[in-house]
Amino acid sequence: MRRLLPAPAELDDDGLVEAYRLPEGPALRVNFVASLDGSIAVDGKSAGLGSPGDRRVFRVLRALADVVLVGHGTAATEGYRAVAPDSPVGRLRTAIGRPATVPVAVVSRRAALDPASGLVTDAVSPTLLVTCASADAGRRTALAEAGVEVLVCGDDDVDLPAAVAALAARGLEQVTCEGGPQLLHAALTAGVVDELDLTIAPALVGSPQRLLGTVLPGPAGLELRQLLEEDGVLFTRYSVAPGAR
Ligand SMILES: NC(=O)c1ccc[n+]([C@@H]2O[C@H](COP(=O)([O-])OP(=O)(O)OC[C@H]3O[C@@H](n4cnc5c(N)ncnc54)[C@H](OP(=O)(O)O)[C@@H]3O)[C@@H](O)[C@H]2O)c1
Repeated sequence: MRRLLPAPAELDDDGLVEAYRLPEGPALRVNFVASLDGSIAVDGKSAGLGSPGDRRVFRVLRALADVVLVGHGTAATEGYRAVAPDSPVGRLRTAIGRPATVPVAVVSRRAALDPASGLVTDAVSPTLLVTCASADAGRRTALAEAGVEVLVCGDDDVDLPAAVAALAARGLEQVTCEGGPQLLHAALTAGVVDELDLTIAPALVGSPQRLLGTVLPGPAGLELRQLLEEDGVLFTRYSVAPGAR
């Protein structure tokens, strides 16, 4: 992989980790892969836009994170599983001196996470559920009994700033959010996004599934911090302008 910005360089695996390392302290970054026309799925899944470089960046962002935050729609569609110590992410985390596993926090207004799913039953770092008080109390209790840490943030809707604060209070300060579009929209609207790490796949898809499915209250301004390239795939790091937060 080569860095085009800020300073041109060839990056090996260690260099890629350093290219995505955050300074100490709380931060929320969002990672997506999109086609040139902004499509985020082929036949309903992101894999059709993937590439070896995108999978490496995905692993690096998980390896550097304290917690992976994801909307329930994405967790269900993409078949999310808990991060295992002997997985590629687990091995990379060990190699860079981090605990081998990283917890996944699923955002669901309805507390719709299945307590019998591998995301719950196979978790070494317990999975978290980010939900709100209006979610079914029985489902919340069943998930807590299955070992899920249930965070109730907000009354009728998930209060994302409260959720980010609740994660940070548990030592989960550096958040990698893996979407999807509904969660990205809510996170931008709530002003909790610090960074967008967008992989741009050299493809045109024309899918109705896009980075943002609905219009934002106002355009969010972003600033390009880093640009990497491999096999025609662009790997961007944009910071969200403070005015947009
Ligand atoms: N290309 C990529 O990088 C990428 C990344 C992610 C996803 N995707 C694609 O996006 C599609 C999924 O889209 P999606 O819009 O359904 O994704 P999503 O945002 O992950 O899921 C929507 C669901 O998550 C919960 N949710 C999201 N934001 C919430 C909020 N602020 N408060 C409370 N609950 C919230 C709700 O779950 P409940 O209904 O349970 O309350 C909502 O119905 C899939 O096709 C996936 O492949 C692509």
